[in-house]
Amino acid sequence: MLVMDYLSVIKKCVERYGDTVVLPFKWPTYFLNDPEDIRHILVTNHRNYVKARGLKLGRRFLGEGLLTSEAPKHTERRKLLQPSFHKEKIASLGRLMANTATSQVENRWQAGTVADISTELARVTLAVVTKALFSRDLSDETTNVQAALTICQHYIEHRVRFGWGLPEHWPTPMNRRYRNAIAVFHELIRTLILTRRNSGQTSSDLLSVLLEARDERGEPLTDNEIRDELVTMLLAGHETTANALSWAFFLLATNRNAEEQFHAEIDHVFGKGPIDVGKATGLRYTDAVFAESLRLYPPVWRIGRRAINADTLPGGLHLPPNAEIAMHLFVAHRNPKYFPDPERFLPERFLNGGQHTRPRFSYFPFGGGPRICIGEDFARLEAAIILGVIGQRFRLTLEPGQRIKADPLITLKPKYGIRMRIHGR
Ligand code: HEM
Repeated sequence: MLVMDYLSVIKKCVERYGDTVVLPFKWPTYFLNDPEDIRHILVTNHRNYVKARGLKLGRRFLGEGLLTSEAPKHTERRKLLQPSFHKEKIASLGRLMANTATSQVENRWQAGTVADISTELARVTLAVVTKALFSRDLSDETTNVQAALTICQHYIEHRVRFGWGLPEHWPTPMNRRYRNAIAVFHELIRTLILTRRNSGQTSSDLLSVLLEARDERGEPLTDNEIRDELVTMLLAGHETTANALSWAFFLLATNRNAEEQFHAEIDHVFGKGPIDVGKATGLRYTDAVFAESLRLYPPVWRIGRRAINADTLPGGLHLPPNAEIAMHLFVAHRNPKYFPDPERFLPERFLNGGQHTRPRFSYFPFGGGPRICIGEDFARLEAAIILGVIGQRFRLTLEPGQRIKADPLITLKPKYGIRMRIHGR
């Protein structure tokens, strides 16, 4: 059974009160659901908006990396990091992604067994992202990284949702757990930086870009600045994709017809041999499966902003200065105006140009405007490859009698995992 609570409450609010819901908190909070209002915030008048207070609560964990920083620092950093995510650079990482994913799956996945696929997929995506961006496979750290990440996400979400908390330096059990989890991360990253520095190696990966960067005064980034970017990439780059893929396999297991079409396409495009990355562009149905999974379970399920000055939205709503804005992708993606029968998993919605018949911001799993996900092309290629590597070899079915719950932390995680039986094909 699929259980949702906090998410259902938000959804019901929007169903009851319409595209704009105003909550009279200490800082008035606006839930926006209309595509044109969303475009206004993220693109047209983005200069009037900064990241929401909620994300800033995670500063001790995420520091001032690309995800949390603001202009002018953000603009500068984005310029520095963007070339590492250009289409050609990502395409050149395809072979490495395919080899990494294949060896992970061949070493750990066995027909006839039952596994929590969300943990297994986190291991695969952690291996891929750390190999591709830092030239190191950190998948042996999956258990530590996942445990630490979950604690940090719970902590931040708790403070966002309840709007308060005892000061972070007080020795409460929750604060202590949070601090210990951050220490695990920081130690991992410190070792990564030290090992590279001591090796004297040069590389063209993201870690080298950060180590070799110089600011306008010719100064290198400090170790803390490098650490913040690496922590950000670790969180943003492995957890999101792992969740997206977990939900994709969950949804495929609930729709036999879609699952058969998916396997037929994987067999047709990749055959049974090693993944030929150049052929990934030929995956139409598989891309639609991924797109539809991102619609129903967007890994970033909420995007928040805060207004600097007063503003008026295209729909006519007046926002005061300091207004908090929450755009719930989880709800916006289920708007029956644009997605009839919205709860149904129907990859066909994304075939034959279906997406171009809907407003741009009726569906925005990677955000939009200058803060759009820097890793979108990375994630799409990685997803196609991992779906291919697993789809070539296995069919996954849901184990009966389990509770599957979407847990809205910073990312939308399956709270109790997803237990699936692995069948050989
Ligand atoms: C399915 C996978 C992914 C999804 C759904 C996703 C979604 C998003 C979204 C919605 C944002 C915008 C947040 C906002 O506007 O407040 C974002 C930003 C970001 N993402 Fe992703 N992401 C994914 C994968 C990745 C990967 C693979 C990486 C890196 C390897 C990455 C790195 C980042 C970074 C660094 C930012 C901040 C960009 C900025 O503010 O300039 N993401 N992501």
